[in-house]
Amino acid sequence: MSVHREGGLKTAEIAPAKGKLGVMVVGMGAVATTLIAGVEAVRKGLAKPIGSLTQMGTIRLGKRTDSNSPLIKDFVPLANLDDIVFTGWDIFEDNVYEAAAHAKVLDADHLAQIKPFLEAIKPMPAVFDQHYVKRLHGTHVKTGKHKCDLAMQVIADIQAFKKTVDRVVVLWAGSTEIFLEPTAVHQSIAAFEKGLVDNDPSIAPSQIYAYAALKEGVPFANGAPNLTVDLPVMVELSKQNGAPITGKDFKTGQTFIKTVLAPAFKARMLGVAGWYSTNILGNRDGEVLDDPESFKTKEESKLGVLDYILQPELYPDLYKDLYHKVRINYYPPRGDNKEGWDNIDIFGWLGYPMQIKVDFLCRDSILAAPIALDLVLFLDLAQRTPQLANIGIQEWLSFYWKSPQTAPGLYPEHDLFIQSMKLKNTLRHIMGEDLITHLGLEYYD
Ligand SMILES: NC(=O)c1ccc[n+]([C@@H]2O[C@H](COP(=O)([O-])OP(=O)(O)OC[C@H]3O[C@@H](n4cnc5c(N)ncnc54)[C@H](O)[C@@H]3O)[C@@H](O)[C@H]2O)c1
Repeated sequence: MSVHREGGLKTAEIAPAKGKLGVMVVGMGAVATTLIAGVEAVRKGLAKPIGSLTQMGTIRLGKRTDSNSPLIKDFVPLANLDDIVFTGWDIFEDNVYEAAAHAKVLDADHLAQIKPFLEAIKPMPAVFDQHYVKRLHGTHVKTGKHKCDLAMQVIADIQAFKKTVDRVVVLWAGSTEIFLEPTAVHQSIAAFEKGLVDNDPSIAPSQIYAYAALKEGVPFANGAPNLTVDLPVMVELSKQNGAPITGKDFKTGQTFIKTVLAPAFKARMLGVAGWYSTNILGNRDGEVLDDPESFKTKEESKLGVLDYILQPELYPDLYKDLYHKVRINYYPPRGDNKEGWDNIDIFGWLGYPMQIKVDFLCRDSILAAPIALDLVLFLDLAQRTPQLANIGIQEWLSFYWKSPQTAPGLYPEHDLFIQSMKLKNTLRHIMGEDLITHLGLEYYD
């Protein structure tokens, strides 16, 4: 069944993806280098962009009997991979080849084939303060009188890069900062700008980058769970300057699986008594998360999903007493190859208990890189789409996040398949196509 669209736009109204798309990555560690090396490997025909919806996904248009499912990248005007140009910031001076070799996600063979390209990308000095990431000691950092001065330096970096490309997106792939809560300084642009000059401790480095990007009209994606764009000041800047923002913390491994399994239990009205999730990982991200203050930020992001999906207030018999625990342990021998175990205690008919064990031997950055690519491409598309450019939060990109961002008063949607449907229907909508509801009664008329 398809519904008639209301106010959908024609393709012509979305500005074309002409020229170069500049991607500025904050933090050139495991995720960033895997993204950059991967995009180059795909461009050279050395590998396929597996895991990327924008590159490999199709979208059904019209009725099932129409057999019309183009590739998403042929349906909406996305930037071409050949037109992406990377730069970024890091607190270490290593070029992207050195950083990728250090991260040990991709094999030496893979990296050797694109070494000169990777060596040519060198990070700019970062805005960093060890107060916000206790386990790191940065050496390649900006200095300034106050946080406002640092923000102006990031703005200058963005302006200089803008001269070499046609459009820019900023992606935070930096380390997880300590847990922070919104304060008065985050409530308006004026308060935030005063806070920058006053060196307000509630303003973390990630917020300085986000402020600089949004001020420059550049969309911003936050791959980590820190408090960065989920703040009134950033929503205001985003709307004012037509610079889209969206949720935070890439939904890659354990949470990805959780947001597939939990909706299945709820759909079948099966109860859940407990869900114990533990992880071991040995990369720098794991080392940073070994600090309790950074772990708290991650924990909050990982814990949120079950309550929203299972809705214990609607189903007290099934989920009211659910015990949910998330652990992350730093274990160096595994490097980037995380192991995530889930023990799920469920119960069925008449309350009889059952157990499910999930052991996901995943590769963190291999899962994160295609998500980062899709986000960059979709945020750039949103900025060129009149219906999306000035709405601020792009809730339709919830699909990619552990913590989707929503308008005030709305609960976030965590169910992966609802998120996927929402994303695809948004693409249909902006292209003036009928939405798909899966009703299908017309086939039986
Ligand atoms: N890989 C995944 O599956 C995944 C999933 C969800 C979230 N994340 C998050 O993505 C982020 C990146 O993960 P990673 O595995 O690449 O970590 P990483 O430690 O390899 O890379 C982070 C990089 O950020 C740099 N950095 C830290 N603070 C900075 C600052 N203020 N400015 C500039 N650079 C800074 C560090 O020097 C490091 O090079 C982490 O916050 C992680 O929690 C990763």
